[in-house]
Amino acid sequence: MLVLGIETSCDETGVALYDTADGLLAQSIYSQVPLHARYGGVVPELASRDHIRKIVPLVGELLDKASRSTADLDGVAYTAGPGLIGALMVGATFGRALAYGLDIPAIGVHHLEAHLLAPLIEGAETLPPALPFAALLVSGGHTQIFRVHGIGSYELLGESLDDAAGEAFDKAAKMLGLGYPGGPAVAAVAEQGDPARFRFPRPMTDRPGLDMSFSGLKTFTLNTVRQHAPLTDKDIADIARAFEEAVVDTLVIKCRRTVEHTGLGELVIAGGVAANRRLRERLEAALPRVIYPPPALCTDNGAMIAYAGAIRLGAGRREGLEVATRARWPLVELDPVVP
Ligand code: KG4
Ligand code: ZN
Repeated sequence: MLVLGIETSCDETGVALYDTADGLLAQSIYSQVPLHARYGGVVPELASRDHIRKIVPLVGELLDKASRSTADLDGVAYTAGPGLIGALMVGATFGRALAYGLDIPAIGVHHLEAHLLAPLIEGAETLPPALPFAALLVSGGHTQIFRVHGIGSYELLGESLDDAAGEAFDKAAKMLGLGYPGGPAVAAVAEQGDPARFRFPRPMTDRPGLDMSFSGLKTFTLNTVRQHAPLTDKDIADIARAFEEAVVDTLVIKCRRTVEHTGLGELVIAGGVAANRRLRERLEAALPRVIYPPPALCTDNGAMIAYAGAIRLGAGRREGLEVATRARWPLVELDPVVP
């Protein structure tokens, strides 16, 4: 079964072809980062308009790359939520209409399920984890720890009670004048930073449980920036380093606790912040087995949507003719899927 996957939940237009027999055939991505950079964050209306401009040529380019045509498709999967509603509507409307025109099934995919399943994509280098496994989802909008019982069956074990880790990275980057997107920028300058100069708090690690909080770190960063203004390049690097250490340390403590509490030996990390090198290294040193997708499958992409869609289509799931999208959509609301 050949499935076209379409991702347009935020600021990347991502498309991919996944074949259930041959794995991932091709993917193409168009990043809107330069478009939003001057505003310091994603402007929803601009994002929707740019998805409209890019979606048709991108799918054409993808099919050419894989030497396939729309006639070869057996199904279309698109991100149905959560995300920016206007942006979601572009991919969903295009995907649903294309499937209707080709008389093939369509499936709306949960963006976070797709992130969580990305390490299972064939050809993703690492040996896939055995079910059930623990998962840390760390993106711009979510920081959550799950027990993954199976496809569609996610038990929430803990989450950030305020900002997501990625959001905290983005805000810290803004305070340090590093621009958008913040995570990679903070991580890059932190490489030159002195880890001993500042010590930032590790929020909620002294309390039992797996919930987290990152908004206090934001305030701590702001106060540190104000105390040392005007900042030199060294100040920026040292603050970035201390901030990154605090976020990574907090996540490592909570993940270690997850493994201890659940007895699950395998932890999958997914979402944009899973691309953070220091987080990966620290988790690998602290836990028996850490599994993460290659960096290109950590941040938003069409491949993970095609893959999650292929599993659901394979289990007989289909959308009706309406185009249904949801800006908010808790992962625990999904039903278990028996492949
Ligand atoms: O999963 P994703 O691409 O989009 C969402 O669904 O949110 O995650 C984007 C988030 C952003 O907050 C970005 O700053 C963060 O992931 N991010 C990173 C790194 N790469 C991306 N954070 C820390 N270190 C990185 N290397
Ligand atoms: Zn995402």
